[in-house]
Amino acid sequence: MAFHKLRPQIEEILENSKKSVDDRLSEVCELLQTSVPYYDWVGFYFQNGDKEELKLRSYAGEPTDHEIIPFGKGICGQVAVSNKNFVVPDVKAQNNYIACSIHVKAEIVVPLFLNGRNVGQIDIDSHTEDPFSHEDEIFLEWVNKKVAEIL
Ligand code: SME
Repeated sequence: MAFHKLRPQIEEILENSKKSVDDRLSEVCELLQTSVPYYDWVGFYFQNGDKEELKLRSYAGEPTDHEIIPFGKGICGQVAVSNKNFVVPDVKAQNNYIACSIHVKAEIVVPLFLNGRNVGQIDIDSHTEDPFSHEDEIFLEWVNKKVAEIL
């Protein structure tokens, strides 16, 4: 995947201080969802105030019922407590998983750190089986680092 071509486009979106942070996050979701063939749903969840739960802040793809996810629940909730990337090649093999759509076959969640604290995450669903590689992790860690700079 040509992630190197996406990096300058993401920087351009995030540096546009004329737009709100939420608008810029939505644009990043749109860009990723439309540019990477196996990224079918892309969203950013953040901790909901000081509650032990995540709240969906922006996304691209089909609307989801899961706008609030308690810490520990599903792949997202597990990443909120583990502080580690979670790559799921086959969602059917996961017990602690929250299904958003019957089409989803795989998922990747990468935590977003602000001043060393896990404050949120990028979550990507794929309709393709086992599509994510180490390259996706490196790229998404970079995206989150760039997002943290504007929070
Ligand atoms: N599948 C996620 C829930 C969020 S949706 O993918 C948008 C999970 O198990 O945490």
